[in-house]
Amino acid sequence: MINVTYSGNEQEILNSQKVSRLQSIHDNLYAKKGAGHDFLGWLDWPSNLSDSFLQNIKDTAEEIQKQADVLIVIGIGGSYLGAKAVIEALKPHFEKNPQFEVLFAGQHVSGAYLKQLMNYVEDKEVAINVISKSGTTTEPAIAFRFLHKYMEDRYGQEASERIYVTTDENKGALLNLAKDRGFKRFVVPDDVGGRYSVFTAVGLLPIAAAGFDVNQLLKGAKQAEDELSTFDAENNPAIKYAAIRHALYEQGYTNEVLATFEPKLNYVQEWWKQLYGESEGKEQKGIFPVSVTYTTDLHSLGQYIQDGKRDLLESFLIVEEAGEDLELFEAEQNADELNYLAGTSLHDFNLVAYEGTSKAHLSGGVPQIGIRLQKVDEYHIGYLLYFYMLACAYSSYLLDINPFNQPGVEEYKTNIFKLLKKPGYETE
Ligand code: PA5
Repeated sequence: MINVTYSGNEQEILNSQKVSRLQSIHDNLYAKKGAGHDFLGWLDWPSNLSDSFLQNIKDTAEEIQKQADVLIVIGIGGSYLGAKAVIEALKPHFEKNPQFEVLFAGQHVSGAYLKQLMNYVEDKEVAINVISKSGTTTEPAIAFRFLHKYMEDRYGQEASERIYVTTDENKGALLNLAKDRGFKRFVVPDDVGGRYSVFTAVGLLPIAAAGFDVNQLLKGAKQAEDELSTFDAENNPAIKYAAIRHALYEQGYTNEVLATFEPKLNYVQEWWKQLYGESEGKEQKGIFPVSVTYTTDLHSLGQYIQDGKRDLLESFLIVEEAGEDLELFEAEQNADELNYLAGTSLHDFNLVAYEGTSKAHLSGGVPQIGIRLQKVDEYHIGYLLYFYMLACAYSSYLLDINPFNQPGVEEYKTNIFKLLKKPGYETE
């Protein structure tokens, strides 16, 4: 389903990683024993979720589509990137008068954005899905304070029927507010962290509301769960990807550039950066995740990748089958001198551009991993996201890192609270 290749001697690089080490990571993972094992709920989530859970998601998505033209999803980090990645991958680039839109808020703090968002939805019917596992994150809380008031001013009592909350089952300010106002609630499971939550209600409700087939998405994830659970360092793509990138890390390649030729995957790249950056970047270790879109960035960061500091590894996420496409045609005058391309589809052009770029960067000293995905649809995206999550767990354990905590995101928060004199922080 996913094919992982390495630009150099595959056998040699895999042999540099101890099979016994990979085997013990595998065994601990599936016995749910390693560091952070309390957060392994995502590992068998696709095969464990119940029909009634899924039906509730689909029914609620339908209810939202009936009551609203726009769903505003409020969340940050793992509470929005999974849904955003899937929706951006599947929706058309342009849509004339869309029947239903999913928009995002709370992923940053911008007065202009929130003002313009409220202005944009003025003549549309609105519903809101606020997502926060902790229920205390400042950015979505700020956005919700404004949007909640907007909904109450606009809809009065009815606002409560248009607000859906996805949060912890037992704690957090958002939970208390949801209980107090009677908002419909979905639970972020205790044993699933934000960046591993795309297949829970966190991702599924917005994705279903956007009109995409969550059954197919989960079918792809379940297929990945089944296929990638066997221990085979050479043929299991998740283990292979983790082992190769770790071997390259040991050789000094400390930055991974995730490159794609498919702009629809830009938010998959953002999701991947959060997943790997927040899982691995601890204790002064980890590969720094960066992303580029080609051919756009061949006219920008391509220069650095070809010729800059040699600590980069590049992983190409290649889509094999185009969805919609165009073919170049013969022009009478050939004024643009492109007739040599007549008969070439734009997808074919990108595949050639991949070959050319890959060769150039290789000769520039950038080792490469190829990740091939058959096509972009719900099923294959479900497979891909599960693959990346599993590989991330292996990769973090190879660094002796707990993949599931994020101690480093606390310091800046405390500083902001102190500077803003949040109650409890004034005297610090
Ligand atoms: O992956 C993570 O755990 C984080 O990125 C969180 O998703 C992010 O900080 C938002 O947290 P919360 O869902 O508690 O608002």
